[in-house]
Amino acid sequence: MRPLENDLFLRACRREPTERTPIWLMRQAGRYLPSYRALRERYDFLTLCRTPELAAEITVQPVEQLGVDAAILFSDILVIPEAMGLMLRIEESGGPHIENPVRTAADVAHLVIPDPQEKLSYILEAIRVTQERLRRRVPLIGFAGAPWTLFAYMVEGSGRDDFRRARVFAREVPSVAHALLEKIARAVARFLHAQIEAGVHAVQLFDTWAGLLDPDSFLEFSLTYVRRVIETVKAAAPRRVPILLFSRGTAAWIEALAETGADVLSVDWTCDLARARQQTGDRVALQGNLDPTVLLASPEVVVREARKVLARFGVGAGHIFNLGHGVLPETPVENVRRLVDTVKRESPQYHVQRGEASR
Ligand code: CP3
Repeated sequence: MRPLENDLFLRACRREPTERTPIWLMRQAGRYLPSYRALRERYDFLTLCRTPELAAEITVQPVEQLGVDAAILFSDILVIPEAMGLMLRIEESGGPHIENPVRTAADVAHLVIPDPQEKLSYILEAIRVTQERLRRRVPLIGFAGAPWTLFAYMVEGSGRDDFRRARVFAREVPSVAHALLEKIARAVARFLHAQIEAGVHAVQLFDTWAGLLDPDSFLEFSLTYVRRVIETVKAAAPRRVPILLFSRGTAAWIEALAETGADVLSVDWTCDLARARQQTGDRVALQGNLDPTVLLASPEVVVREARKVLARFGVGAGHIFNLGHGVLPETPVENVRRLVDTVKRESPQYHVQRGEASR
């Protein structure tokens, strides 16, 4: 097969030298883009996710309009709970809602571990259509929610900010919680395996709500299952692709996260990249970590803060520029463009250029 035209992202994941720092953004395909909003006027969110041609079109939009170095499949982490048997709605305001949340051991027993070829085939098809449209310009990233974060939505039933019901459930009936996490972990591993088979170049696990947990609970309910998913995927994968882990609000546990088997740790803006680099040594690459609210400020602030992130990681391989969380819906597209251009123009000074090493 023809090589990728731009493989900066994949090389950075492997901590190999690159001419500049690659950049892509979490939620780069979303409501801040007028072309996305235009499609959303005609279709609801889940229809976009379930229609491979539409999902592919949205996935490619930021690549063509912003020049990012990787595409992330347009979908959602909640497709797994749905395929396991829960009824999902995404409300116009207020986000996800599950009609029949998990509350008892019997609820857990009723959940299925879906065969992705059957229940999630629309996503595998979206991967194939997207690869055709990308024409090997940039790599395609697949993803899934991490078990703890999916657990939080499945038990809470909504995206309430502190997920108190899910946290009480984990402490009150730990054996039921573990049975549920176990099932979710198996479903996630199978799904990531299927995405790799369908042709994604890398996969990212989103543990958005890991930071809600105290240290012991974090190890017990989040990290254990992240490690298990990564081990399972690595052991069975048809190809070795980079595995990225976004564990939000957990900078304090960066050394433990580096031992999960993830190739890349995606960190939020509370994490000091220079310190994280020292703590993780050469075990992982780092992705991040601009605060998304920077993109709501003036273009001068965007440039200044982007420079700070580049300088904070410093000279060397193994940095992928990203935000510390997703692009906010009210973000001006011009600022996102400015960010991508700034990273492209200013990051070469942090890398050894071809021929320079021998001089
Ligand atoms: O990053 C990308 O561009 C790819 C697509 C993507 C979406 N969701 C699209 C989406 C990805 C990778 C996700 C992951 C996701 N979904 C996470 C983990 C990352 C994170 O942001 O923390 C979580 C927690 C979810 C659950 C979810 N889905 C929420 C909380 C919401 C509502 C909040 C919101 O932003 O509206 C969704 C809906 C959703 N997922 C939208 C998009 C573009 C908005 C739907 C719309 O168009 O109305």
